[in-house]
Amino acid sequence: MIPLGKGVVNRKFKKSIDFFCFRVTMFLAITERLILMRILFIGDVVSGPGTTFLLDNLWNIRKECSADVVIANGENSADGNGILPFSADRLFSAGVDIITGGNHSFRRREIYSYIDEQEYLLRPVNYPTDVPGCGYCIYTTDRGDKIAVISMLGTYMLDAFDCPFKTADRLIEKISEQTKNIIIDFHAEATSEKRAFAEYVAGRVSAVVGTHTHVQTADEKILSDYTGFITDVGMTGVIDSILGVKKEDVIYRFTTKMPTRFNAATGDCEMNGVLIDIDAKTGKCTNIERYNKK
Ligand SMILES: [Fe+2]
Ligand SMILES: [Fe+2]
Repeated sequence: MIPLGKGVVNRKFKKSIDFFCFRVTMFLAITERLILMRILFIGDVVSGPGTTFLLDNLWNIRKECSADVVIANGENSADGNGILPFSADRLFSAGVDIITGGNHSFRRREIYSYIDEQEYLLRPVNYPTDVPGCGYCIYTTDRGDKIAVISMLGTYMLDAFDCPFKTADRLIEKISEQTKNIIIDFHAEATSEKRAFAEYVAGRVSAVVGTHTHVQTADEKILSDYTGFITDVGMTGVIDSILGVKKEDVIYRFTTKMPTRFNAATGDCEMNGVLIDIDAKTGKCTNIERYNKK
C-alpha cells in the first residue's frame, strides 16, 4: 500500500471541513426559514384593473417571494368604489388569503350579507358590533402557524366609531392568548395618526401597515426592536392615474366641486406591497421591506 503524502491528507481534511461547514450553513438556513413567517401585504387594490393584475400575477409573485400569508386591502376593489362579492372573490382566487377593509367597506349593499359568510374578509374592527362582518381573524398557515390580522380605522377625517388606541388595547390582550403573531392594517388619513398608533402598540404586535392614501411611503422600519411599520403601503392599480382613478374625473371634481363618479383608469398596472418577516415563535418582526411589481 502506498502511504498518502502530507499534502493529500491536508486537502482531504480541508474538503471534509468545508463539507461540514456547508451542511451547518444549510441546516441553519432551513431552521431559520422554518421559524420565520413571511407575509406579503398588498396596498389598496383599485377596481377591475387592480384585481385583474393580481389574478394574472399573484400566484407567481407568491412563489417568487416565498410568502406564507398574503394580505390585501380590498375596500376599493369594486368598480365604482367599495367592495363587492365579485371583487372579493377575484382577490381570493388571485391568491389573497385575507382581505382588509376601510372607510369604503360598506359602500356597496351587496357586501352586507356576503361579509358575514366570509371569515377572511374584514371590515374595520372599531365599528359597532351590530354591523355586518368582523374586524379581525386568526388564520393558520400551511405550516400550522397562527397569525391574527386586524383591520383598524383611524379617526382623523374618517368615520371610526371607537378609539383605535383603546380598541387595540382590548383586542391585543384578547388575541395574544391565541397567537403572538399580530398584523394590523391601520387605515387612516393622517401620517401622524398612523405613526402615533404604531408607536402606541410597538412591542405588542408584529407589524402595523398603513393603508388608505394609495401612495407608498419610503419609511419602513422596525419600532422598539419588535414591530414592523410603514406609514402607507401604497396601492395596486393603474400607474397613469390619480390613485387608481381616471385622471379627468378627479380633476373635474377638484375644479368644479360637482359630484362626480370616479371611474377606474385603464392602462398598465403596478402592485405596491411590503414583505414582512416575523419570528413565528415570538411574534417579533425581523425584517420589513417594500416589494413592488409592474
Ligand atoms: Fe383605498
Ligand atoms: Fe380608504
